[in-house]
Amino acid sequence: LVAATPYSTLPSVLLVGPSGAGKTALLTLFERGPLATHTQQQQHKDEKQRQLNNTAVALTHTSQAPATVELSVSDDGASSFRDDLDAAGSAHKKFLLVDTPGHAKLRRHALARIQGTTATTAAAVTTTTSSSSSDSSSKSKVKAVVFVVDAAALADGDALPETAGYLYEVLLSLQKRMGAGKGSRAPASVPVLVAANKLDLFTALPAALVRSNLEAELGRIRRTRSRGLLDSGVGADEDVAAAGAAGDESDNWLGEYGSDKFSFKQMLEFDIEVDVVGGNVIGEGPGADRWWRWIAERI
Ligand code: GTP
Ligand code: MG
Repeated sequence: LVAATPYSTLPSVLLVGPSGAGKTALLTLFERGPLATHTQQQQHKDEKQRQLNNTAVALTHTSQAPATVELSVSDDGASSFRDDLDAAGSAHKKFLLVDTPGHAKLRRHALARIQGTTATTAAAVTTTTSSSSSDSSSKSKVKAVVFVVDAAALADGDALPETAGYLYEVLLSLQKRMGAGKGSRAPASVPVLVAANKLDLFTALPAALVRSNLEAELGRIRRTRSRGLLDSGVGADEDVAAAGAAGDESDNWLGEYGSDKFSFKQMLEFDIEVDVVGGNVIGEGPGADRWWRWIAERI
């Protein structure tokens, strides 16, 4: 069930991705799951559920601050987001689902959490949009990242550089986080689910194409960035300068160092699992169950 004031000790799953991909819509779907079905007859469940979800989803708008809901999965990970585990009295684990704004100027919210900044640092970053729930969830351990992409927008091509650029930031942050643990104990790995959303639209790319297009674009970005490093020493690239790692190219290289093509499998070298799974929040299609199961298995 959903609580307004989540406990800071619960693990969290981050929803990240570009603006308009469907993060808030997905959060709303998972949040309403148990509530929407609670009072309904079993045989009308699916249809009613869809109507309710469509109504809820239609009300989303561009997010300006992170939002958090508390959700539960059963201990065996086999429950649906439609199940009300509290009411059923079955054994379950709670976690926080954290929605982050996708707008380029607000991505620090998501990136700060991924980098595992301390609560005080994260709080300092979010002072302008302080909300009690986002403050408490920033202390919670990130267990997994769900990177939501608009598979229909990716078909046009314009959205690809923008989407891949943000994914590059996310993956490189996770990679550096793993590298920083060298010598002492490596931090727990954080798996990434690329949720290829909006598969209800006939223009949407299938998950396999979302995967290969993103891999190709990430490879292109990697090549461009490494060239920038070589040309200017200290990069004109903001991120290189910010990392203070001018000259140390291997630290800023995503995936297998020196490789020609990028693939998500290369992230396994840093113990980072990346899966691409298609689905949709509204309309007819594969739905959101496979994403829910992916999350449930990692909580
Ligand atoms: P920001 O808050 O700006 O980062 O965007 P967001 O990722 O939270 O996007 P949001 O959830 O607000 O969804 C953007 C639009 O996409 C909304 O109009 C949703 O109704 C629509 N949308 C979300 N999921 C789906 C889907 O599966 N299919 C279709 N057709 N539309 C969807
Ligand atoms: Mg949103």
